[in-house]
Amino acid sequence: MVFKPASWPRKLRSAQWFGGTSRDHIYHRSWMKNQGLPDDLFDGRPVIGICNTWSQLTPCNAHLRDLAERVKHGIYEAGGFPVEFPVFSTGESTLRPTAMMFRNLASMDVEEAIRGTPLDGVVLLVGCDKTTPSLLMGAASVNLPAIAVTGGPMLNGWFQGERVGSGTHLWKFSEAVKAGEMTQEEFLEAEVAMSRSPGTCNTMGTASSMASMTEALGMALSGNAAIPAVDSRRRVMAHLSGRRIVQMVKDDLKPSDILTREAFENAIRTNGAIGGSTNAVIHLLAIAGRIGVDITLDDWDKVGRDIPTIVNLMPSGKYLMEEFFYAGGLPVVIKRLGEAGVLHRDTTTVAGETIWDQVKDAKNWNEDVILPVEKALTKQGGIAVLKGNLAPKGAVLKPSAASPHLLQHKGRAVVFEDIDDYKARINDDALDIDETCIMVMKNCGPKGYPGLSEVGNMGLPPKVLKKGITDMVRISDARMSGTAYGTVVLHTSPEAAAGGPLAVVQNGDMIELDVPNRRLHLDISDQELKARLDEWVPTHEVPESGYAKLFHDHVQGADTGADFDFLIGCRGSDVPKDSH
Ligand code: FES
Repeated sequence: MVFKPASWPRKLRSAQWFGGTSRDHIYHRSWMKNQGLPDDLFDGRPVIGICNTWSQLTPCNAHLRDLAERVKHGIYEAGGFPVEFPVFSTGESTLRPTAMMFRNLASMDVEEAIRGTPLDGVVLLVGCDKTTPSLLMGAASVNLPAIAVTGGPMLNGWFQGERVGSGTHLWKFSEAVKAGEMTQEEFLEAEVAMSRSPGTCNTMGTASSMASMTEALGMALSGNAAIPAVDSRRRVMAHLSGRRIVQMVKDDLKPSDILTREAFENAIRTNGAIGGSTNAVIHLLAIAGRIGVDITLDDWDKVGRDIPTIVNLMPSGKYLMEEFFYAGGLPVVIKRLGEAGVLHRDTTTVAGETIWDQVKDAKNWNEDVILPVEKALTKQGGIAVLKGNLAPKGAVLKPSAASPHLLQHKGRAVVFEDIDDYKARINDDALDIDETCIMVMKNCGPKGYPGLSEVGNMGLPPKVLKKGITDMVRISDARMSGTAYGTVVLHTSPEAAAGGPLAVVQNGDMIELDVPNRRLHLDISDQELKARLDEWVPTHEVPESGYAKLFHDHVQGADTGADFDFLIGCRGSDVPKDSH
């Protein structure tokens, strides 16, 4: 049987590898054929990469091989040629010092893997927190047709007759043990009750928020975000996405057609409506930077400020993602934004239709899960961006997860120089602290930790917890898990390790938090602040080699998305030179 290359009806990108009879074309095809691939797969049909973050070390994505098979069915059906490949998978619960340190590395892996191989389009299989932004960032920098399929959330956790939310109850139970309200044995028993099926965190944590952002941006098919991982409809979603990407290649529908400023504004408003994670701020800024859309931290406040939080999910509310799906999921929320006149209805989605066309027929099946506006969890949801002499470039707080009585608060600073200092002293009953104080932690930002860790929701001191107090104002340059809650000021920029004013806060300083007026103020004079900053010397450990050094030297502030300076921008899909 002699293979005769077809007439290549349309010169796809992959034709530069497979579309001819030269020695190099034969070389590229021949080696691929060692996998048992028939000739006609090389006849000029779109070659679709399935970029898979499957890994047993990313337990939330451990079921993605099955979904990849479903995607392949869809690609074959639509006349495409699927090729699955692995990329660095950033497992939130396992990777140290923090998965965030590797988001940019994973995005580089994705970008180069797509650009350097014979792909015409790509399906992004994602789920756990950083896997979603890293793949979107990498794909945006290449700008080939791309569609995301998220892995879906775990089923509800249940323990002692109550819903148990991923992460949210880990923090709650841990504090309850410290306060003497729960035994250690019960805590151990709850371990498996929190994670009883494949999938991502079942709260509106970072994974669910980023799945929702992906859908609101238009980068996934409508309804994708909430389908539980084990629901048969998750497989259907993967199947349909496989079909769809082939047509997207034929139509040349690229991320730059979808990821417009209006799409980002839709996503920011959606994040307010779902009570989404503060991590979405950083990731959306980074994705926007890759595709060249000018979205700033201030836009998060301006665009999202007046959006009520109507999704009654933990950590802000009561239910979990499974119930969100049964209630109608994200299309209902986006439809509400459209009806309220705060949705750009005509943004394009991967479906080739506008976002409004995708959601206009959505129905709410449970008004206790997706609430009417008059019963909103918070009238002004979204993300509050705070500015002041303590955060000249901004800091963020999630009002829906905060205690209303602490949103305007002045207190005495109790300062921890870094996470180790915090861990060493927080349980000491001799620590001079009470519930009116403000806990301040330094050196947990991008350069300081390094990696911008999720330690901003510092647990309260046991002596305060024992009084029945469950929240205090906390300020740091860290991030916070999307599953966490509290009156927690995060991402304070510039970070302490970069010489931001946070670095010179001292024990006993008074700090003023005023969320309604978006103010974060260190109550010392300008002269005193300048004198302290002039004397400041960095105290964090600076990595000397390896990826940690690359990260430290090139990472940007949280206020702009914490991307590497040299990665910002779209470098396109031009085929690299061949060395053979
Ligand atoms: Fe992976 Fe929450 S830890 S989704």
